[in-house]
Amino acid sequence: MSEPHLLLFGPPGAGKGTQSANVADAYGIEHVTTGDALRANKDMETEHGTPREYMEAGELVPDPVVDAIVAEALATAEGYVLDGYPRNLDQAAELDAMTDLDAAAYLSVSESTLVERLTGRRVCTECGRNHHVEFDPPEEAGVCDDCGGELTQREDDTEDVVRERLRVYRENTEPVVERYRERGELIEIDGEQPPEAVWTDLDAAIENVL
Ligand code: AP5
Repeated sequence: MSEPHLLLFGPPGAGKGTQSANVADAYGIEHVTTGDALRANKDMETEHGTPREYMEAGELVPDPVVDAIVAEALATAEGYVLDGYPRNLDQAAELDAMTDLDAAAYLSVSESTLVERLTGRRVCTECGRNHHVEFDPPEEAGVCDDCGGELTQREDDTEDVVRERLRVYRENTEPVVERYRERGELIEIDGEQPPEAVWTDLDAAIENVL
């Protein structure tokens, strides 16, 4: 059997990045994430401006920029878990034309939990590990437990921008989730549980469809 093609959906802060890393490790496939790819190219000049302008405001980066990133990544990946794409119906149509999926999983989390997770997230500037000021505090404030790097807050994790990201998600991405649900292709996972329990459910659900 060929390597799995998986999609992980969920609102901002649902745990897509956290769980995609588990999936990539467990199944030996690539983690393709538009968020990380855009953060690594924030100041890239495009005919639509730079990704930074959109990301810092919590808005979607224009489709042509994001579609090109995903097309390039999927062209070379044997198997993958895709995180952060598609985020609107046009991107979903683009993805349908690019590849076939084995499974699409959705992490459901309440809005109050999402705001708490995102505003408390601190990211290591050296190794990229996520800490959380309350749920996963570092031993020494501001210092990564794994590598001693500096912990910072993402520019789009302030409360105002988080609220805008959630509005953009409801308007643009919920219809995409609904589309997969209506086609009977969505696996729904309770993302409100502790990370280990989310992973147990997600792994079992993926095993079940492969
Ligand atoms: P992106 O980086 O994709 O951000 P996002 O979707 O808002 O998701 P996050 O990375 O914030 O959260 P996550 O679900 O990965 O959660 P995480 O595991 O980190 O996109 C950023 C921006 O890029 C967008 O706003 C847009 O501008 C642009 N962009 C990206 N893709 C695009 C596209 N396709 N089209 C157009 N523009 C695009 O967890 C969050 C926190 O919670 C962490 O602190 C973590 O430790 C903690 N946590 C995780 N799971 C749990 C748990 N079960 N219990 C307790 N804490 C938990």
